[in-house]
Amino acid sequence: MSLCRLDDIEDGKGKVVPPGPDGLLIVRRGEHAFAWRNSCPHAHLPLGLPDGRVLVHGGSQIVCPVHGASFDVVTGTCTGGPAAGESLTPVAVEVVAGEIRLKQG
Ligand code: FES
Repeated sequence: MSLCRLDDIEDGKGKVVPPGPDGLLIVRRGEHAFAWRNSCPHAHLPLGLPDGRVLVHGGSQIVCPVHGASFDVVTGTCTGGPAAGESLTPVAVEVVAGEIRLKQG
């Protein structure tokens, strides 16, 4: 199932597809995409902004807009703030012919 095109996301940025708490948070780094459930492990609130934008610092850290926890975009591990010791929940995706898709199996 196609989520969006890789080119729909600027390199080093992210977005929630579709926008909202049930969407997936996707970050692009070059030709790779990393996806996470749109829920911060600190207080289980959405990491994405209501319009689907995601705060990505320096292309490498997802920043929660609620209390400022930061997470590595590749590993999902908390790198600072109030979610220390916790991680984002990964969702397996792959890039096929320029489309970001949920990985089968
Ligand atoms: S809900 Fe994300 S840091 Fe508190």
